Amino acid sequence: MTENSIPPPLSLVCEVTHRCPLHCVYCSNPLVMQGQDAELPTEVWIKVFGEAAKLGVAHLHLTGGEPLARHDIIDLVRAGREAGLYINMITSAVGLNKGRLQALADAGLDHIQLSLQDAEEDLANRWAGARAHSKKLEMAELIKTESRLAFTVNIVVHRQNLDRLEKMIALAESMMPQRIEIAHVQYYGWALKNRDLLLPTREQLDSSIRVLHEAQKRLSGRIHLQAVLPDYYARYPKACVGGWGQQLLLIDPAGQALPCHSAGLIPGMTFDNVRDHDLSWIWYKSSAFERFRGDDWMQDPCRSCDRKTIDFGGCRCQAMQILGDPYATDPACSLSPHHDELVAIAAAASEKSSDMVYRILSAPTTESTPFLY
Ligand code: SF4
Ligand code: FES
Repeated sequence: MTENSIPPPLSLVCEVTHRCPLHCVYCSNPLVMQGQDAELPTEVWIKVFGEAAKLGVAHLHLTGGEPLARHDIIDLVRAGREAGLYINMITSAVGLNKGRLQALADAGLDHIQLSLQDAEEDLANRWAGARAHSKKLEMAELIKTESRLAFTVNIVVHRQNLDRLEKMIALAESMMPQRIEIAHVQYYGWALKNRDLLLPTREQLDSSIRVLHEAQKRLSGRIHLQAVLPDYYARYPKACVGGWGQQLLLIDPAGQALPCHSAGLIPGMTFDNVRDHDLSWIWYKSSAFERFRGDDWMQDPCRSCDRKTIDFGGCRCQAMQILGDPYATDPACSLSPHHDELVAIAAAASEKSSDMVYRILSAPTTESTPFLY
């Protein structure tokens, strides 16, 4: 594609650290993560935010890991604001307190997204691998009094908690956010390792959709309730990351620029680093962003499909993970010759159970040796 036909990125996702006090079994971070020694220093992140604003980025998402684990997080927020970006922080709220929340708002944070793991404390702590639930409730009370911040509660759902969706929505509602987002686990990284434990059954999914619709009616005009459904049960795949190299640019803690969080599992990728290149060069010229732009790379049925400009052939990482071919039609698509294999995987997995593998920076930890709780 030529530079003129490529839109600027809408969102810059900065994984400012992989360090995290939680060890969620559904985390989509890569299995091999970056340690603190490899993290970009403050001044390089500040340079990146300036380049992003020049490039036309509107939204900066500070995530991780846990962004609050960085001692310079207030400076990063201030720099993002000075660059003119709208700043969202995705956090567990562990590491937050009244003073720090006020400092973040004073520095220019616009939006905070807090995740919930369950409606019941012991279960929430179990999926997080950490005693974090009561702290989240406490911090949600603080956030709702900070009127300068827009607030979203994100509920991550899977087979182990989906039957409590109604209770989880009620808990989120009590936190008085502007938005509640129900996010089904996406099966990458640690979540893929735990797929047999996490994939919901078809029946669970159907009944959760009824709960969702009732809650949407009840909350209408007060709280925007939105859901991301699992594509293992979908007819067509999601337009993953809004299309490869179309909307999103992700920087990992060490400065590698990726088109999506899992692109590292695709063979033959080279990720340029923001220490060595300007963000504009990375977006328009780097081989990683060019690789699945346009439709020259597509095979049939995508190549001749009239939905190819809607979903861009689905997720390249899922095609790689399930079929071993990053150029294949996403098997979540009902038109894929391999769709039945995905349906069979989903059906079989939702009947199985396995040990939970907790997300940690070094070696995997299973349920028999739980990490923290
Ligand atoms: Fe999308 Fe490809 Fe399926 Fe068409 S065949 S709906 S482009 S994934
Ligand atoms: Fe990589 Fe979907 S997660 S393209």
